[in-house]
Amino acid sequence: MTTTAIAANGLRKSYGDKTVLDGIDLTVPEGTIFALLGPNGAGKTTAVKILSTLITADGGRAQVAGHDLTAQAQSVRAAIGVTGQFSAVDGLITGEENMLLMADLNHLSKQEGRRVAAELLARFDLTEAAKKPASTYSGGMKRRLDIAMTLVGSPRIIFLDEPTTGLDPRSRHNMWQIIRELVADGVTVFLTTQYLEEADQLADRIAVLNNGKIAAEGTAEELKRMIPGGHIRLRFTDPDAYRSAATTLHEAARDDEALALQLPSDGSQRNLRTILDRLDASGIEADELTVHTPDLDDVFFALTATTTVPAQQKESAR
Ligand SMILES: Nc1ncnc2c1ncn2[C@@H]1O[C@H](COP(=O)(O)OP(=O)(O)OP(=O)(O)O)[C@@H](O)[C@H]1O
Ligand SMILES: [Mg+2]
Repeated sequence: MTTTAIAANGLRKSYGDKTVLDGIDLTVPEGTIFALLGPNGAGKTTAVKILSTLITADGGRAQVAGHDLTAQAQSVRAAIGVTGQFSAVDGLITGEENMLLMADLNHLSKQEGRRVAAELLARFDLTEAAKKPASTYSGGMKRRLDIAMTLVGSPRIIFLDEPTTGLDPRSRHNMWQIIRELVADGVTVFLTTQYLEEADQLADRIAVLNNGKIAAEGTAEELKRMIPGGHIRLRFTDPDAYRSAATTLHEAARDDEALALQLPSDGSQRNLRTILDRLDASGIEADELTVHTPDLDDVFFALTATTTVPAQQKESAR
């Protein structure tokens, strides 16, 4: 039987006359990773702040770790950890001192605090840097320290607001590994991100937030199936080769100026081979072949193009 870690119903939040969350429903089973995906200003941080009791919603209800968000806010706080979008690391003190401060806030004894701090610093590969001021840390190190600080109280549910924004690819992959390990230990992770790839890599379920509403919700595969498929693009330098290819691959969309052909493709080896075999049979060779798989832009375009700005308004805005 699965237990629900987070359940939200009809959450609403406005600032002045700006509606940020316009009735949000979310369910996150215990021990899973949930990704809230959305562009700048979509309301991701607002959702995290509400669910972690930092701010209150204007409407709706939510249960976190089985406790009512408003009636039992203290119990919710005891069960969760939050790593904000902007670092909570104090740069003036060392990494270790930041950790010990968190241990104090979590009412650990001096001895227990030192033990937990040392253990987490080691786990996040920060032992060597532990005695240096945190202001000297790289972005990736600060992010790791941020998460280590969040784990001091052994939360069962953690909220990570854009955990990898600003990290280089290696640090990003390291962070993904850390998040996977947390979940392997049974922790529930609620993360926000602007990267579909990140949600794709990590999340059991993904919700796309747009215009205050959940525009789509599902597994990465389900979301990708909702949007127009990928394509391959073949580019030629020789106009004759281009024309022959256009005849051979008669179903392709033509870009006569760029001497490029575009065909729908799922990007599979089988599909690419079929297309290349047809060119081979006519003795044609493309100069460049690129495979395009659906990405965040595609998802947003497909999910939000008709809802963001009414078509007429868009036309007249040009
Ligand atoms: N305290 C506040 N007062 C007024 N408006 C606010 C406040 N906090 C957030 N907003 C507005 O609410 C909207 C959503 O903000 P939020 O920070 O939740 O977005 P986000 O999805 O986290 O964006 P980003 O990707 O940039 O972090 C924005 O338009 C923002 O300007
Ligand atoms: Mg944010």
